[in-house]
Amino acid sequence: MNYNDVLEKARAVMAPNCRVCPVCNGIACRGEVPGAGSKGNGESFTSSIRYLNEVKIMMDAVHEDFEPDTGVSLFGMDFAAPVFVAPIGGMKLNYNGYMSETEYAKAVVEGAVQAGILAFTPDGPAPTIFSDTLAVAKDFGGMAVPTIKPWEKEKVMSRIEMVRETGCPAFAMDIDAAALINLKLLGTPAYPKSQAELAEFAQAGGIPFIVKGIMTADAAKRCADAGVYGIVISSHGGRILQDTLPPASMISEIRDRVGDRLKLFVDGGIRTGADVFKCLALGADAVLIGRPYTIAAHGGREEGVRLYTEKLIAELKETMLMTDCRSIGEISGDKIRNMNR
Ligand SMILES: Cc1cc2nc3c(=O)[nH]c(=O)nc-3n(C[C@H](O)[C@H](O)[C@H](O)COP(=O)(O)O)c2cc1C
Repeated sequence: MNYNDVLEKARAVMAPNCRVCPVCNGIACRGEVPGAGSKGNGESFTSSIRYLNEVKIMMDAVHEDFEPDTGVSLFGMDFAAPVFVAPIGGMKLNYNGYMSETEYAKAVVEGAVQAGILAFTPDGPAPTIFSDTLAVAKDFGGMAVPTIKPWEKEKVMSRIEMVRETGCPAFAMDIDAAALINLKLLGTPAYPKSQAELAEFAQAGGIPFIVKGIMTADAAKRCADAGVYGIVISSHGGRILQDTLPPASMISEIRDRVGDRLKLFVDGGIRTGADVFKCLALGADAVLIGRPYTIAAHGGREEGVRLYTEKLIAELKETMLMTDCRSIGEISGDKIRNMNR
């Protein structure tokens, strides 16, 4: 099986919810939430793609040959590349139920571990979404980053306890899910969380805590003050609000505000190793990728996830060689030109 076989199979099994377009850019699926798309006019998703397209790479091949090293260390672990699988839940609601939550979790958790990276796993209105995906993480030695929704405090605390028992290296909270209308409709509302509450969750976890869905420098600073390990600069793939900024456009402003107090992850529209490179050059420590991994998992299960990750790493290496970056730490702002300004 190669990556093209994965795409072909995915195209056959994901219809009608995902068309597996040549570039996953949010145009065909505008407004399709539930579904694989983004909210309202779909601009939060499509503008993220346009933003990254306008960040250009400074090519330089006048140097010695070398093998680029894409490895990074985060939350006390070494990874093959600064790439993580974003949490995606609702296989039946958003896709067509071809894969169960457990099958999807197995594909991304196992495929990620095989490729030397990790998957974030989701939470959802049915408690089994969290417990079933955590059970998969347990089968793989806890090698996943469970993502808890911002439920009422007691429910969050009991999930944090489950994460601790599973032995995961870190946990996350998609704080932006507070606005997800389907959670309210299903009678399981989620809520915004204050800096004090985040501090309590970080304390209770006792392992690195990552807050996902941060889009301003002020909110990032409150996370840093709460003692969280890192944030994911993210608009939830454009599924929460229409007309949010492209997450990658906020990296440098947030970095300027928090310095090295937080690890900065970013997601939204990242598709290739060149996109990963651009986000790192803009100041991120690592990226998350969502929809392309759902396609990889539907088309090839764990093998599809591994193949897509290997493709990303090969593209990242090629970009690093052609910009004279031997290691991830050498990817700096002078390696790109941001045409968005
Ligand atoms: C169908 C679907 C379901 C998602 N479910 C979750 C979820 O349960 N928890 C979460 O934190 N993010 C969820 N996300 C958002 C992703 O984690 C991620 O932020 C987003 O997909 C990144 O954008 P990309 O798909 O363009 O890479 C979901 C996204 C999609 C498309």
